[in-house]
Amino acid sequence: MPNLETAFLNKTFSNPTVLSSGILGVYGSSLVRVAIEGAGAVTSKSISLNYRSGHPNPIIVEFEAGLINAVGLSTHGIDDSISEISYAVKNSPSPVIASVFADNVENFALVSQRINEANPDFIEVNISCPNVESEFGKPFATDPKTSAAVTSAVKKVSKAPVIVKLSPNVPNIKLIAKSVVDAGADAICAINTVGPGMVIDIESAKPILSNKVGGVSGPAIKPVAVRCVYDIFSEVDVPIIGVGGVTNGSDAIEMIFAGATAVGIGSAVHYRGIGVFKKVSKEIFRFMDTHDYSSIEEMRGLAHE
Ligand SMILES: Cc1cc2nc3c(=O)[nH]c(=O)nc-3n(C[C@H](O)[C@H](O)[C@H](O)COP(=O)(O)O)c2cc1C
Repeated sequence: MPNLETAFLNKTFSNPTVLSSGILGVYGSSLVRVAIEGAGAVTSKSISLNYRSGHPNPIIVEFEAGLINAVGLSTHGIDDSISEISYAVKNSPSPVIASVFADNVENFALVSQRINEANPDFIEVNISCPNVESEFGKPFATDPKTSAAVTSAVKKVSKAPVIVKLSPNVPNIKLIAKSVVDAGADAICAINTVGPGMVIDIESAKPILSNKVGGVSGPAIKPVAVRCVYDIFSEVDVPIIGVGGVTNGSDAIEMIFAGATAVGIGSAVHYRGIGVFKKVSKEIFRFMDTHDYSSIEEMRGLAHE
């Protein structure tokens, strides 16, 4: 009988699926609902110290092979978010990952220190959002030194194990992975959205997103995500949450074969509904059953052999 349980650092997920950051993750009650619907772990939307309204609409649009978004890191700020994450931690049947972001190293440390009050199972450090570049400059994740500086600052203050979320928009993701692991990252999440990209409405001859550009997600980015996870697995020895274009069980298996310990799902909630976590788990189970795999661990990284 295949076993979907997945050991991730100091916790065991009931299955390898994880709700990715930014999808149904603003409120504690929605995180709990996704966990009840079958996610092995759930991640909050990224939280910063202060309230941010994000970009004006339109902030998300579907194209032939995925989604493009420029939400602009909207957040209620740390005070409201602490009560939402606390609610999720108390009521969720699955581990809760609190995602944080900031505009500089010092504020990454401050927001990470405050989130301890909510007692999340893990903290995820979003150093990789590509759709606020005009506001924040290049994402931290594009430079090994700044990636390491943020990681060690968060690591010094966080009571929870630290997951660092990387960007695919770099020439050598192995370099960034090594720098964050050397700086103390307990795990890596890869990837954030690809881009930025642009979609133009040919009737008005204008970009659709108010921000003009946004991060690309969904099926279009899966091969990039699989390659990033493959590269990271070959470079460092920490668990990886593989994210990017995972829509069904076969996509999740690809991620696990590339080296992922757990598999993030974001855009597929749009395609397959909130039941996507149970559906993907069932599809993974069926594949394992027909291919004689008994555990997720046994499948991890097989593409490297
Ligand atoms: C609407 C939207 C909002 C997002 N917001 C965040 C965020 O706040 N923090 C973050 O780390 N990633 C954010 N992401 C990126 C996702 O967590 C994920 O890394 C990316 O979408 C690729 O996975 P997918 O193809 O399964 O969607 C967001 C993605 C989307 C589509």
